[in-house]
Amino acid sequence: MSDKKKVFSGIQPTGDIHIGNYLGALRNWVKLQDTYDAIYCVVDLHAITVPYDPVALRRSRLNTAKLLLAVGVDPSRSLLYFQSQVPQHAELSWMLSTITSLGALNRMTQFKEKADKAGKNLGLFAYPVLMAADILVHKAHAVPVGDDQTQHLELARDLAERFNSRFGDEFPVPEQITPEIGARVMSLKNPTSKMSKSDEDVNTRVLLLDEPDIIRKRFKAAVTDSESEVRYDQEKKPGVSNLLDILSLFTTRSIEDLVAEYHETPYGHFKMTVAEAVVEGLSPVRSAFKAFDDEEVTRIMVKGALDARTRAEGEMASVRKKLGFDARLGDGA
Ligand code: AMP
Ligand code: TRP
Repeated sequence: MSDKKKVFSGIQPTGDIHIGNYLGALRNWVKLQDTYDAIYCVVDLHAITVPYDPVALRRSRLNTAKLLLAVGVDPSRSLLYFQSQVPQHAELSWMLSTITSLGALNRMTQFKEKADKAGKNLGLFAYPVLMAADILVHKAHAVPVGDDQTQHLELARDLAERFNSRFGDEFPVPEQITPEIGARVMSLKNPTSKMSKSDEDVNTRVLLLDEPDIIRKRFKAAVTDSESEVRYDQEKKPGVSNLLDILSLFTTRSIEDLVAEYHETPYGHFKMTVAEAVVEGLSPVRSAFKAFDDEEVTRIMVKGALDARTRAEGEMASVRKKLGFDARLGDGA
């Protein structure tokens, strides 16, 4: 474990996880477990930056954890836990907030989008600082995320550099790991915007736990274009290109190969081919999800939180010392 490089990533427990989350981020989480010391977190403190229902949050954080286990995050190889159960995240977030400029936070496009819908609060504004703390509290080297997180990750890199230059070398500057295809899976109804958990129209996305008939229905209604040629052109044919991306990721066949085979296939038939590939690809996830019971998941998460606290506490000692505090209680008094 110790000589491997570390990856860290997080997912919010709000809304339902869709194939965009899966293809853009979660598949990489699973893959990276083999080569990295992998640390993954359900970021429930981030979830409370928008209006929410505490009872629903309890349920959705447990389901999110269960789904991560179902897609293949393996607690014997990865550290998996709830962010709120490891207080060092919030501690480091405060420290980093003191070296974060308001200008940088004002430029965050996700803040603007969310604030328009949910209203502004300090936590939502500081969201990217907590995200930086999540990564830096473990001194992670790399962060697997979809491309909508690039701006947030840039802030984490800036804060690592700024801390290091002001207080002395402490944090690796984390690299982003984004898949070549799938970094931005698009909405099925409006293929020029990304597939999103928060879109009001459920027809825009396919959830990992959707039943086969729902998946077929979503693809049947997917927007294409007025031509009748299956060809890859993200600008002129965003709908068809998105479907090709999805098919490629679920079949592990190249886009060229798929275009050669489906070039003249009528759209209706092509969409059903994509639907069947997704139904088949998600079927093991659905059965694995059903096989986990809540108590088992809770046990896994408690163990994860205890391990994560120990590790984060170890990492924080030198951070506190650099800032002029006790590395551990009583050290410097
Ligand atoms: P979130 O649902 O915002 O917590 O996102 C969890 C992960 O999924 C992050 O790494 C996002 O970058 C990624 N993600 C979210 N939406 C998409 C999408 N449409 N395509 C690819 N990746 C996505
Ligand atoms: N902001 C990320 C998202 O919405 C979730 C997140 C929180 C995260 N902390 C993180 C991702 C740390 C990577 C690393 O998807």
